[in-house]
Amino acid sequence: MENVNWSELPFGYMKTDYNVRCYYRDGKWGELEVSSSEIINIHMAATCLHYGQEAFEGLKAYRGRDGKIRVFRMDENAKRLQSSSRGIMLAELPVTVFEEAVRKVVKLNERFIPPYESGSSLYIRPLLLGMGAQVGVKPANDYLFLVFVTPVGPYFKGGFKPSPVCIMREYDRAAPLGTGTIKVGGNYAASLVAGEKAHKEGYAAVLYLDPKEKKYIDECGPANFFAIRGKTYITPESHSILPSITNKSLIQLAKDMGFTVERRPVPIEELSTFDEAAECGTAAVVAPISRIDDLDENNSYIYSKDGKPGAVCEQLYNKLRGIQYGDEPDLHNWVSFIE
Ligand code: PLP
Ligand code: COI
Repeated sequence: MENVNWSELPFGYMKTDYNVRCYYRDGKWGELEVSSSEIINIHMAATCLHYGQEAFEGLKAYRGRDGKIRVFRMDENAKRLQSSSRGIMLAELPVTVFEEAVRKVVKLNERFIPPYESGSSLYIRPLLLGMGAQVGVKPANDYLFLVFVTPVGPYFKGGFKPSPVCIMREYDRAAPLGTGTIKVGGNYAASLVAGEKAHKEGYAAVLYLDPKEKKYIDECGPANFFAIRGKTYITPESHSILPSITNKSLIQLAKDMGFTVERRPVPIEELSTFDEAAECGTAAVVAPISRIDDLDENNSYIYSKDGKPGAVCEQLYNKLRGIQYGDEPDLHNWVSFIE
């Protein structure tokens, strides 16, 4: 791996050695299989292709200063995939099989885990696809669970540098009682037009409002939203946002740091009262927001003028990364070692 510049990796796809697959046929899951092919063989009438019967996950493996490999809260990703499966009638994968597949694919691709000093990590992408042929709108009979990995750097350019996001009322990523709370491909397809428009205008992401009333903050395209006011950590509660494992972890860390946590609907008007604002997620980690531009109301909310992250965001970021890379004690048992 001589010619990889680990500290300059983008958040993108790089070919690795192996992926792991498991098929659901005749009502049961088979054995895990190892593949070195990047290609899957798929029926043209598969339900994932026509009716979006597909869910995915995202988690990371980290190489510590001690050389050990850590994976962060994979049981939570396994459970969220089950929740997504219930949401769109995919065959449910046992948590133990999910974890075994993650361990296996990370171990097999060990040479692609970026070195500690680079600050990069190995992104793990589990995928669950409806494979069986249907033409009527019905769930498939057969499924494929697949996990691939790819070494990545920061999701947002500049990494832990504040970047601007925007509010645009003419787009939603999910319906009020739709699929926003599960991790299915359709939500991301629905976010592409708004996302591209925002990127063209120089924004890192779209900050979506609740799709029912457009009164409350929901989340960003690929990450949850949180804000800091004094000693309070504030994050939206909503029927159309993904339950972020990063956010759940930051909530715990904020409590550990003596912060009060408020998880509740967050009205737009409140944006002007926050000291700090940020996006959080596996890919985004903690991505501070410099400014929120409300493009419909011609309003701006500013959280960083000097290009520096807020002090609390920085503390939370350091604590979280510290646990993930093994520099901080793992007091909540979030880390699994891959031996
Ligand atoms: N919200 C959305 C829409 C996402 O795609 C993600 C990424 O997975 C998140 C939030 C953050 O979730 P997590 O922290 O579990 O990665
Ligand atoms: C993640 O953070 O894992 C995501 O899935 C976000 C995005 C890359 C879809």
